[in-house]
Amino acid sequence: MIFYFSGTGNSKWVAEKIAENIGDRVFDISSKENIPDVENENYIGFVFPVYAWGAPEIMISFAQNLGKVDSFTFAVCTCGENVGYALKKFSKVYRTDSNYSIVMPNNYIVGSDPDNKEDAIRKIKNAEIEIKEISGEIKNRKYTYRAEEGSFSWIKSGIVNLGFNKFARSTKSFYATEKCIGCGVCERNCPIKTIHIENGKPVWGKECRQCLKCINECPMCAIEYGKATVGRNRYNIGMYIEDEK
Ligand SMILES: Cc1cc2nc3c(=O)[nH]c(=O)nc-3n(C[C@H](O)[C@H](O)[C@H](O)COP(=O)(O)O)c2cc1C
Repeated sequence: MIFYFSGTGNSKWVAEKIAENIGDRVFDISSKENIPDVENENYIGFVFPVYAWGAPEIMISFAQNLGKVDSFTFAVCTCGENVGYALKKFSKVYRTDSNYSIVMPNNYIVGSDPDNKEDAIRKIKNAEIEIKEISGEIKNRKYTYRAEEGSFSWIKSGIVNLGFNKFARSTKSFYATEKCIGCGVCERNCPIKTIHIENGKPVWGKECRQCLKCINECPMCAIEYGKATVGRNRYNIGMYIEDEK
């Protein structure tokens, strides 16, 4: 069983590809479905995006509540560039026998423009090759740690990650512009159901994972985050993967 969390589809896509290769199935941890019994699973896998060089809190609390098993366990962290100590820290929450990071297109459009088409496609193609290799290693139950940590990991996965979870996950800066037609895609898309359409416009509740699915997948490009995202392109894997949607 492969548990995943995904904002813009990268981690979902990686989880599904690995599942296909190793003959397993996936479970979206943000779905409202009951957590399956994992006692007799061959594998327990976790696939998630890195957020400020840490695993998303939603994945950490999910793993904390998941029963411990004797199966082979693995974690795969998708990132735009590097993951710091995200996987090392996650493995303290739930024992993981093998750990990998995979570079995918960057969806953090609050920080910078997303990758251009050429770079996004190159990253996805490289990831496909890596996923084959990773899947083979998982099947062989190989104990591995292969992660692009980058530099200053102890600072990035320490104080910077703490700061992100404490201060940067506010919904205050989200707003819909006049381009919004009240279609409700953001409301339906939000993995934690924090968005509600009121008087034809989205309104954000307090809680937010900062997955940025709302901004990146708005069909009208009508959602912004303060001034940071104005004029920037959007990203979701469906733009580059035909069978994704
Ligand atoms: C809030 C936030 C923080 C991020 N932090 C990092 C980071 O620290 N390092 C990095 O390389 N990529 C970072 N990214 C990029 C994502 O981890 C990356 O694009 C990931 O593959 C997105 O996965 P998803 O499509 O499954 O949501 C961040 C993205 C978001 C939304």
